[in-house]
Formats: sequence, structure tokens, C-alpha cells
Amino acid sequence: MVDISRRNALILGGVGIGGVALGGTGFVLNQKSATTQTTGAASGAALVLPTELRSSNGVLTVALESSPQRIRLGGRDVHALTYNGGLPGPTLRVRGGDILNVSLRNGLTDATNLHVHGLHVSPEDNSDNMFVMINAGDSFDYSYAIPADHPPGVYWYHPHHHGYVADQVFGGLYGAIIVEDPDEIPATRERLLVISDITFDSTGTISGATEMEKMSGREGELVLVNGQHTPELSARPGERERWRVINACTSRYVQLRLDGQQVTLLGIDSGRFESPQDVEEVILAPGNRADLLVTSRAGTSTLRTLPYNRGTSGAMMGGSASNSAQVDLATFTVAGADVAAFAAVPDQPVPADLRSATVSARRELVFAMGMGGGMSGGMMSATINGQAFDATRIDTSVQFDSVEEWMLTNSSSLDHPLHLHVWPMQIIAQDGQPVDSVIWQDVVNIPARSTVRVRIAFNDFSGRTVYHCHILDHEDAGMMGIVQAL
Ligand code: C2O
Ligand code: CU
Ligand code: CU
Repeated sequence: MVDISRRNALILGGVGIGGVALGGTGFVLNQKSATTQTTGAASGAALVLPTELRSSNGVLTVALESSPQRIRLGGRDVHALTYNGGLPGPTLRVRGGDILNVSLRNGLTDATNLHVHGLHVSPEDNSDNMFVMINAGDSFDYSYAIPADHPPGVYWYHPHHHGYVADQVFGGLYGAIIVEDPDEIPATRERLLVISDITFDSTGTISGATEMEKMSGREGELVLVNGQHTPELSARPGERERWRVINACTSRYVQLRLDGQQVTLLGIDSGRFESPQDVEEVILAPGNRADLLVTSRAGTSTLRTLPYNRGTSGAMMGGSASNSAQVDLATFTVAGADVAAFAAVPDQPVPADLRSATVSARRELVFAMGMGGGMSGGMMSATINGQAFDATRIDTSVQFDSVEEWMLTNSSSLDHPLHLHVWPMQIIAQDGQPVDSVIWQDVVNIPARSTVRVRIAFNDFSGRTVYHCHILDHEDAGMMGIVQAL
């Protein structure tokens, strides 16, 4: 049995099984199969993909409206938040070099804005600017110039107005952005799987979170894939499917398994590996994405997420943040005549490696949680270097075009997934141990009472943006800072 709690995930990497398994945000290479447990057939309908909007002649112009809607979810009529009436919102498909124009109308009752998570674009003006605020009833026109050499992969968009992020994402506001590969990887079909969680009360209204739930990070009772409860996917044996998986949950970590099928990881976030890796499990912290290939084998498999222990929210609260139950996400049924085998996936470009770069500054970010002093008189405090977010303060000034090394120290008993906008992070060391392969992510998990060292190249764009815990309740409580590159 391959047990990959966040502690021994690291040990697996360390004992030379042949790959890395990073605490909390990692993957386990193929080994003898663990438990092959099939749960009862799901009663779901066929997986539905969100509407896809695709660029043409280098431009994609989209009108988005965020608004509350009455929709059908998991077999119930509920009130949720939607982009253009859908949950998830439409998928935006672009290529490097494109211009993406998004006109967002705020049909909510609170302020909102838009963030293009993981895109390497300018954080200024009407690009990925976190300081834009769109009041209820107002609109704003965003325009993102995507660099010609932008890494291909799966990204996503969601609201980012401080104080409202967790409620708005939990309520249903998210959608996928796909940056296409310059050279298509041959596959039979492509599927997007947006994993999210949500809770409704008996009247079909979204349940709010208690202070205690916010402290550990709220997890929804209903776990959805593209807004569906245990949808069904089907294929013929030998097909190669491209699965783009987004963890859009507000706080839930997912530890994915698909027993009985061959699962190959192309990369996490924008960090494409030079050679694809066959994996048993993929762990995605909130905000992370996986770009996968599934080579189908006859039989019925269940895509499930295993229980994941992300610590406790403090002895005083007695709260545990572990999701203790396994959750079935989807059923994958493979039957029919075999399909001719696909050629091997071509090697991908060699990823940049900052391990030998000249580091111009080193700093430490300490993530802490405590009682009292929280926002609006709440009982929780969630800080970075002892300070809660202040939109008027610049916490970290970096020199444009330099490489920095950040020591991320988690002094709390809960994991915190750190996300930095605009510039991805290369993971250099985990709990003091050097990482011996090249891993780039834009959300990096910092396990409880542990450290992670990352390097960042502040290149291509100058300006001001944020880094924060992607447990969105922690972000709203103040675990966010401002970085300015000049
Ligand atoms: Cu996905 Cu700053 O967020
Ligand atoms: Cu982001
Ligand atoms: Cu956190």
C-alpha cells in the first residue's frame, strides 16, 4: 500500500523510489498498485464540459457576468453564483501571443474583480491587476497580452476581491483557461475536470462558514466535477485522453487516484516536465492544476480523492482540517474494441533551472496563525511575517529581472499552500532537503511546522501584485502580502 500522507510523501522521494513526491503538492510514481477498491456504480450522467470560447486570429474577446442564479446541481435546485449562468464558467482557450479581452459585469450584490490564476502576464493597469475593484452593478474591461512563449497548460480564473474571495469561489465562481501546446500532443479527446466543493442548506442556499470553519478553511459537503456529482466518462481500450484537472476548492486538498488506468503527468501548473511521468496519485492543493494523459484499459475505474491530512487548526480550537472520507468524483468506463496504440509523447522543452542562478536576494516568509486580532473582530489571525494584509503597504520590494530565494516557513499546525501571482516558483528544498529534479508550480504547499525553499525569476513584468495562502479563508483573513518588482 502506498501511503502518502504529507510526511512520508517526502520519505518516498528521499529513499530513491525514483522520483519526487513533494509534501502536499506532489505525485507518486507508479508502483505496485495499492488497494483497488471499486465503489458502487455512480448514478451520474455523462460528464459535461463547460462552453468553450476559443481565440481566432490572435484574439479572444469574452463578456463575462458574475451573478447569482437558480441552477440544478447534484440533482437539486439550488441558488449558486455563476459566470454567464454556468458553474463552472466558460472555458477560455488561447495560444501564446494572443490577446485575451474580458469584459466583466458584476451582477453580484458585493464587490468583485477577476484574476487569471497562473498566467504570466502583466499585473498592471487593466491586465491581471489585483487592485481593481468592481462594485455591484459595474463593469470593467480587462485585457491580457499573453507572451508568445507563454508556457502551455491549464490555468483558471476566479474573483480576487480581498475579503470576499472565499465566499465567491465557494459559491461557484471559477472557470478554466487553457493555453494550447504549440505542438499538439496526440490524444483521442480532451476533457476538463474542474473539481470544486460547496455546501447547501435544506432550502438550496449556499451555507456560510463559521469562524471555526474559516480557521481551518471551509470544505464543502458536495464535491463536484464540472458542477456535476459523480459524472460518467467512457472510452475504448487503448485510447489516450488528455485530462486537465483544476482544484478549484476553497480549502480542500485532493489526492487523486484512478486505479486500473495508466495515468501520466505532463506537469503541475505551468511547470511542464521534460519527460512525462507515470503516476499513481496526484495531490493538488487548492489552486493547483494537473495536466494528465490517461491511457485507457478495459474495465470500470473510479476517479476518487483520498483522505488528506492537512493538520489541525490549533489545540485550543480542537479543530482538525483533515478530510477524513474518501470521495468518489467520477466513473470511467472503458469497453469496446481496442484502439491502436499511440506513439510516445514527444519530449517537452527542457525547463529552466534556477538552482545554479545568481541569487540577488534572500528572504523569509513566516506563515502563522493565532487567536484574536483577526479582521473585523473575528477570532482568527492569519499572518505573513506577523502582519495581516494591508492594501496600502508594500511588503516585498524586488528588483526587476533578478532571481530571489524565498524561505517559506510554516510555524502553524496547518498546511498553507502559498500562491504567487505572475511569476512561478521553482521548488529548491523541502524541509531542508534539496529537491533533485526541476519542479515549477504557482501554488506550493508548505506543510505544517515545516519549510520549503523556492527560487523566483522576477522577469518580463514589473509592477505590483500579491502572494497569499490559497486556502481562501486564510487569504480573506489576511494571509496575503504585496510584492512589487521595479
Ligand atoms: Cu488563485 Cu491569488 O489566486
Ligand atoms: Cu493566482
Ligand atoms: Cu493557509
